[in-house]
Amino acid sequence: MAEIQANNLLSKIASGDGHGEESAYFDGWKAYDKDPFHSSKNPLGVIQMGLAENQLCVDLVQDWVVKNPSASICTPGGVDGFKEMANFQDYHGLPEFRNAVARFMEKVRGDRVNSDPTRIVMSGGATGAHELMAFCLADPGEAFLVPTPYYPGFDRDLRWRTGIQLLPIETLSSNGFKITKAALEEAYNKAMEAGIRVKGVLITNPSNPLGTVLDKDTLVLLLTFINHYQIHLVCDEIYSATVFSDMPNRFTSIAELLEDGEVPCNRNLIHLVYSLSKDMGFPGFRVGIVYSYNDAVVNCARKMSSFGLVSSQTQHLIASMLSDDQFVDKYLSESKKRLATRYKFFTWGLSMVGISSLKSNGGLFLWMDLRRLLQEPTVEAELSLWRVIINEVKLNVSPGSSFHCSEAGWFRFAFANMDDKTVDVALRRIRSFMVKGEEAAAGDKPTVVAKKKKCWQMDLQLRLSARRLEEVMSPHSPLPLSPLVRTRT
Ligand SMILES: Cc1ncc(COP(=O)(O)O)c(C=O)c1O
Repeated sequence: MAEIQANNLLSKIASGDGHGEESAYFDGWKAYDKDPFHSSKNPLGVIQMGLAENQLCVDLVQDWVVKNPSASICTPGGVDGFKEMANFQDYHGLPEFRNAVARFMEKVRGDRVNSDPTRIVMSGGATGAHELMAFCLADPGEAFLVPTPYYPGFDRDLRWRTGIQLLPIETLSSNGFKITKAALEEAYNKAMEAGIRVKGVLITNPSNPLGTVLDKDTLVLLLTFINHYQIHLVCDEIYSATVFSDMPNRFTSIAELLEDGEVPCNRNLIHLVYSLSKDMGFPGFRVGIVYSYNDAVVNCARKMSSFGLVSSQTQHLIASMLSDDQFVDKYLSESKKRLATRYKFFTWGLSMVGISSLKSNGGLFLWMDLRRLLQEPTVEAELSLWRVIINEVKLNVSPGSSFHCSEAGWFRFAFANMDDKTVDVALRRIRSFMVKGEEAAAGDKPTVVAKKKKCWQMDLQLRLSARRLEEVMSPHSPLPLSPLVRTRT
C-alpha cells in the first residue's frame, strides 16, 4: 500500500521498471556479489565471467601514468594545471582532448578514415552516447531496429528515459548470425504493420555478444537499406580495437565505407558511438563519444551533452595519454596480442572437453554453444542450465536469452577481465562439470558427452537444494551493490 502511494507521487519513469534491473539476468550478478571468487581468500567462490572488461594491459597504462606525472593534476608534477582544469566547463571539451580522441579513432580504424575533431561530442560513456542518439533521432513510440543477439544494456540506454522502442532483426546460427536482407525487410515490415515508425537501425561492430566483425557485404547491405528508407544508421564501434585477427574478416568501420563513397548514401543518416571503456579498458572514466556526419545532430548532441560531460580532469589525462603516439601504438599492438593469446587458450581449453563456440576475432568474450546440453530448445531450459552453471560450476556467465538471442542454448563467457590463473580455475571447473555430466549420461561409464542426447544436467539441477535456489533467485535477495550501478556489460 505504502509502495503504491509512493509510486503515485513519482513519475512514470521513476515508478516503472524500464531500467531492467529486476530481470533474471542480474541474479547471476547477485550470486557473484554474495560469493566472489578470490584465489586465496575464497577459492570456491563464483568467478565473474559476465563482465566484458579489458584488463589484460593494465600494466602498460600504469607504467605510462608513473612516467607522466603531469597528466594527473593531483600530483606534484601536474599541480600547475589544477586551477585551470577545475574551472574548465565548456561543453565543447578541451581542444586537445577532442584532437587526441579523433586521432585515436583514426588509429583504431587502421588509419583508413579521417576523424574530424569538430564532430566529436562527449558523453558519459557509450551508455550516455546511445541515449543522446535516441533523444536526437527519435520521438517516444518510434523505433530502432536492432540485430539480435544484442547487448542487454541497449534496452535501458535507448529506451528507458526516451520512450523509444527497439525491435529485433532476427539472425540465426545456421549462417553465423549474419544479418540478411530478408531479416531486415521483415523487421521493417512488421513495424509498419504494427503502425510503428522506424527511425533507424542500430548495429554493434564488432558485435557484443558474438565477438564477430561485420563483413563488407553486410555493411553495404545496411547502408543500402537505410538509404533506401531514409532512416538512420547508428554504429556502435566500441570494440574496434579489440579485434585481434583479420580472419575471417578484418574490422571495417562504417566510416571507411562512407569515405570510400562506393555505396551512394546520405551522410546525414550516419552516426558513430564510441567509448574508451573497451578498447582502452577505462569504463570507470566514462569517456563516451558521439561522432555524427550530420551537422544538426552534432549541434544538438553537443548541447545535450551538458547532461553527461566527461570531467575536465579526465579529459586532460586522456588527452595527454592518447597524444603519446609511441604509447598508443605499443598499447594497441600489445593488447591485440594478449587478447589473441587469451582467446586461443580459452577456446583450446574448451575444445578439449568438446565445447565449441562461434568463431570470432574480436570482443572480450566467447559466444559458447551449449545447445546440446539443454533438455529442450527453450528459454526455460536455457535458464535452468544457466542456474546450474552459476550455482554448481560457480561461473557467472550470461545466457543468450538476455541478449534477445532467437535460439536457446547460447551463452556469453567473458575472458579478458581476469588473470591467467583464474582462467585456469574456470577451465578446470568447466572440465569437471562436463565429466560429471558425461558420467551421469553414461551411467558411470565415461563416453564422449557430445554424442549423448541424455539430459544429464537434470541430475545436477536436482542436486541444487531448493533453499539455495530460492535464495539466489529471490527478487528480495539483498543486492549489496547494484550490477547496473557498476559498469556492466
Ligand atoms: C556494445 C556496447 N555498447 C555500449 C556499452 C556501454 O559502454 P560504456 O561503459 O562506455 O557506457 C557496452 C558495454 O558493455 C557495450 O558492450
